[in-house]
Amino acid sequence: MEFKFLLPSKVVMEPGLRKRTGEYLQGLGLAHILIVTDPGVKGAGLLDSIYSSLDKAGILFEEVSNIMANPRSEDINQIAQSYRHKGIDGLLAVGGGSAMDAAKAISLLLTHNGRIEDYEGSFTLKHAIPPIVAIPTTAGTGSEVTCFSVITDTARHFKMSVLDYRVGPVLTLLDSQITDTLPSSIAAATGMDALTHAIEAYTCRVSNPISDGLALHAIRLIGQFLKPAVLDPENFVAREQMLVASLIAGMAFGNADVASVHCISEAIGGLYDTPHGVGNAIFLPFVFDHNRDADIVRHAQVAYALGIDHSLAPADAAQAAVGHLFQMTKDLGIPRFSEVKGVREEDFMIIAEKSKQNFSDASNAKAMSIEAYHAIITTAYHFAA
Ligand SMILES: [Fe+2]
Repeated sequence: MEFKFLLPSKVVMEPGLRKRTGEYLQGLGLAHILIVTDPGVKGAGLLDSIYSSLDKAGILFEEVSNIMANPRSEDINQIAQSYRHKGIDGLLAVGGGSAMDAAKAISLLLTHNGRIEDYEGSFTLKHAIPPIVAIPTTAGTGSEVTCFSVITDTARHFKMSVLDYRVGPVLTLLDSQITDTLPSSIAAATGMDALTHAIEAYTCRVSNPISDGLALHAIRLIGQFLKPAVLDPENFVAREQMLVASLIAGMAFGNADVASVHCISEAIGGLYDTPHGVGNAIFLPFVFDHNRDADIVRHAQVAYALGIDHSLAPADAAQAAVGHLFQMTKDLGIPRFSEVKGVREEDFMIIAEKSKQNFSDASNAKAMSIEAYHAIITTAYHFAA
């Protein structure tokens, strides 16, 4: 057995923790930071207590608050260009995966010349980069504990990845109250992203014993708490548990991989700007169904962790999990693939080809061909249940 396991981030969790951001950043020796966030987070007032704490700690801050879903390379390059010589010594990402991925890419470009596209791939960085502190505001991405940044290459309409230990946040502040006001539709999509991370980490070809334990626990937590967190927004315990579950799932897939669900979701995200969690939620049941006979035992373990009857034989449990996942997406109000904005059947071969080109294609439980991707995408489009 051979594996590596890395956690880039110290994790602290506490109700209302964002009010203490300044003292934590001071503890890291930071004096002039760049906040990277999105309009939804800013509009919800989630930054107000952070600003006060930074002022109190005497930390200068600048802010980029226009990060949108699926951050684009040309925007990242432009932002980095304007902050390169301003003495920024750290980044504070406040938001979901897009804000965190953008902060990672901007931080990289503060000490590296060129464009983010030049650093696509693994371990392409040449120098240290300013440390990143993450405050996740959704329970889904896990980006706060991963060492990669996913950015849409605008020219290629392709989601590219930059992987390096140095882009992993050094500190994650989990404020268990921060998702209290998260809209249900976002809680649903991001929660399904977290579930996909955990299931793909557990069933992919490059899992390891530590990621396995984390992934199964994340599946159990998400199976138990995602629906209450979405359907009953007053259930703050469920929301808190989802924040922990998504971080645990991030630790799992960050040290294993994701697989074909993400390959398809990233392809449609690059093409139609579909929210990442929505894409994953749509394709998770289909890919799980396609993959399950490649490793019945592991797919059955996923089923049991989701709460399916332990007395069912592994093959039956894995089959039951398919129906369970379909029901979850329905209960959570996830749209069907045919309802996704911009989707056209004539694009399906392009989506299949881009899925196959994805780095994580090789990690899928079952070897995938372009034709297999095309068949799954077509089946999902015509699925009417
Ligand atoms: Fe994801």
